[in-house]
Amino acid sequence: MADTMKGLKRSHMNGLVNASLIGQEVVLAGWCAKARNLGSLLFIDLRDRTGLVQLVFDGESEQALFEKASTVRSEYVLMVKGAVRARAAEAVNKNMATGEVEVEVKDLRILSVSDTPPIQVTENPTTSDVNRLKYRYLDLRTPFMQNNLILRHKIAKTARDYYEENGFLEIETPILNKSTPEGARDYLVPSRVHPGKFYALPQSPQLFKQLLMASGYDRYMQIAKCFRDEDLRADRQPEFTQIDLEMSFVDIDDVISVNEGFIKTVFKKVLDVEVETPFVRMPYKEAMARFGSDKPDIRFGLELNDISDFAGKCGFKVFSDAVAQGGAVRLVVAPGGAAFSRKEIDKLTEFIKTHGGSGMAWIAVGETEHRSSVGKVLTPEEIEEIIKLSDAKVGDLICMVCGKSNVVYTTLGALRCHLAEKLDLIPKDKFAFLWITEFPLFEYSEEEERFVAMHHPFTMPMDEDIEYIESDPGRARAKAYDIVLNGYELGGGSIRIFDRDLQARMFKALGLSDEVAQERFGFLLEAFKYGTPPHGGMAYGLDRLVMLMTGCDNIRDTIAFPKVQNASCLLTGAPDVVDEIQLKELNLSVPKEE
Ligand code: AMO
Repeated sequence: MADTMKGLKRSHMNGLVNASLIGQEVVLAGWCAKARNLGSLLFIDLRDRTGLVQLVFDGESEQALFEKASTVRSEYVLMVKGAVRARAAEAVNKNMATGEVEVEVKDLRILSVSDTPPIQVTENPTTSDVNRLKYRYLDLRTPFMQNNLILRHKIAKTARDYYEENGFLEIETPILNKSTPEGARDYLVPSRVHPGKFYALPQSPQLFKQLLMASGYDRYMQIAKCFRDEDLRADRQPEFTQIDLEMSFVDIDDVISVNEGFIKTVFKKVLDVEVETPFVRMPYKEAMARFGSDKPDIRFGLELNDISDFAGKCGFKVFSDAVAQGGAVRLVVAPGGAAFSRKEIDKLTEFIKTHGGSGMAWIAVGETEHRSSVGKVLTPEEIEEIIKLSDAKVGDLICMVCGKSNVVYTTLGALRCHLAEKLDLIPKDKFAFLWITEFPLFEYSEEEERFVAMHHPFTMPMDEDIEYIESDPGRARAKAYDIVLNGYELGGGSIRIFDRDLQARMFKALGLSDEVAQERFGFLLEAFKYGTPPHGGMAYGLDRLVMLMTGCDNIRDTIAFPKVQNASCLLTGAPDVVDEIQLKELNLSVPKEE
């Protein structure tokens, strides 16, 4: 029979037991982090989410109490009553918030025992990700995970407070919705009452927040769960959370300014970090040209350089053909990279290939002679010209990629980050924010052979580009903006179309017939008939914000119960088969596996 708490009531959290309590009696509770039995002296580190405190049982303790204490193992749940005393000078632990004191235990209750835990609860998780997620309840006991979740709570609380102070109302929107495809794949939920019909889980509250603007709520925010059935990455989960907001009677500057205020506030309140505002605003085109990415990490240089004009005329057919076919030749210079071994350079070429490029040409700039992969296909003069164009110095490595413009951008954009990491050029404690603006309104989908909305179909074109919607869709820019932090897309949004005629033109340009537009978005179009204010907004990925503020590199470390790469939950085993009866009620049948 386990002990009970009877007669005891917790007086303090463990991490808060300090020198000011010396001489006082305290009642503490928590998990045994570590027990050390030195024969005549026994220590237990007692843990709760505020920290550890050292319990001591010594020669002064009654024998029965000492014996009981010696049965305690890791993860047993204990409650103790004892006196706080100063540690001997040589035993003071400066690395521990409670390191000056210890608690001499008088009453020990073992409230719950533990089997030998399958993973150890250490300061930072040390076991495999699979085990961490399978035994998540143990992993969540680590100070690392607790710190992340506490910080997440503080960020969410600061968001609610900040937006409320700025006139926003938090309003919940439904989870069971009509499927309105465009964007990622929907998660679908079959309806029992309507056989053959499905709800879709929201990819975001987009249409509802626009309806709320039409309904006069003026400023809305919500910490909203979103669901997208898309391929996972280190910064993506199928089920994630947005800080979502929308504002009426605004243009781009209004949305940006209220959100720069939020970032400033949340970094100050949660991390005590001063963030300088306003942030740089960089048009999409410039971001691509300079960094090969629409979410550039601007903590370091290594900017791209376009040598297409020169390369189109040079003697290397691979380069000149790429340019002749409408492609590009661009480069990145790795400072000091001439010192890379051949093997290291080959690895960079492999890197380009795994990111979809066809290869990499390189020049390692020497004092008088250069090593290079293009020595046989370019004249010495041409090589000198490239060195000049690239601004490379002696000792640098010039990395060149040719091909379709967007492939060259993405591969070199990724290589730039890879090189910065390899050369240790990234100041890790810096938060480098910027806004990317003037996104293209449409992007051409090779797969669907039509223009699709780059953001979503309700995004307002820039005033001066409305005329291109039909005549030159590729040229039209949108009133859309993303907020980028250290190479991650932290959030994004746009000013919306609120004019029915313009919306109809957009749908047409997207190849949606009136019937399809009506069928999918009819409710929104109908609502817009009855007086709709100009409006716009944005959404942050809360998980990503937590990830960047805690400095962890996987989004899973910001979520209590996340999914893994194949979208399953290792703890519960979801998704799983369901009973025949459940399927029958839903009018569904699952083909039996052969
Ligand atoms: P968007 O699709 O850009 O915009 O999403 C906004 C932000 O949400 C985060 N995010 C994700 N985080 C984790 N896992 C995912 N799978 C995932 N997908 C997106 C990103 C992203 O910047 N309704 C619009 C916003 C608007 O226009 O107001 C929207 O959802 O940080």
